[in-house]
Amino acid sequence: MAYSEQVLDHYENPRNVGAFDKGDDTVGTGMVGAPACGDVMKLQIKVGEDGLITDAKFKTYGCGSAIASSSLVTEWVKGKSLDEALAIKNTQIAEELALPPVKIHCSILAEDAIKAAVEDYKQKHGK
Ligand code: FES
Ligand code: FES
Repeated sequence: MAYSEQVLDHYENPRNVGAFDKGDDTVGTGMVGAPACGDVMKLQIKVGEDGLITDAKFKTYGCGSAIASSSLVTEWVKGKSLDEALAIKNTQIAEELALPPVKIHCSILAEDAIKAAVEDYKQKHGK
């Protein structure tokens, strides 16, 4: 299958690959898997004192679309509040990357990963 140019760009030059210390209490970690294909995505956010996301990193063991989706989302969440990050929809990711229907679940993985990361952060802070 041919990937869109947007996917190739993020796939060949992924933004924000890496990891933060899971134990750092300014960090939220989301780890999700796609039952459809077995791909796994880990996405982390770092939250500043003002409650805004200052940085994000990911590691994705999966297809090009999953890598592109996580790369895009790590860019999008920077500067956002937790609520704004929770509002990111996989349909926005799929649209931005021009994902074909069989690759929609890859964008859902990214939405789930960011939600899981925010939840982890909130749990750490008793919210
Ligand atoms: Fe194999 Fe996504 S299905 S990498
Ligand atoms: Fe499964 Fe992309 S094919 S995450």
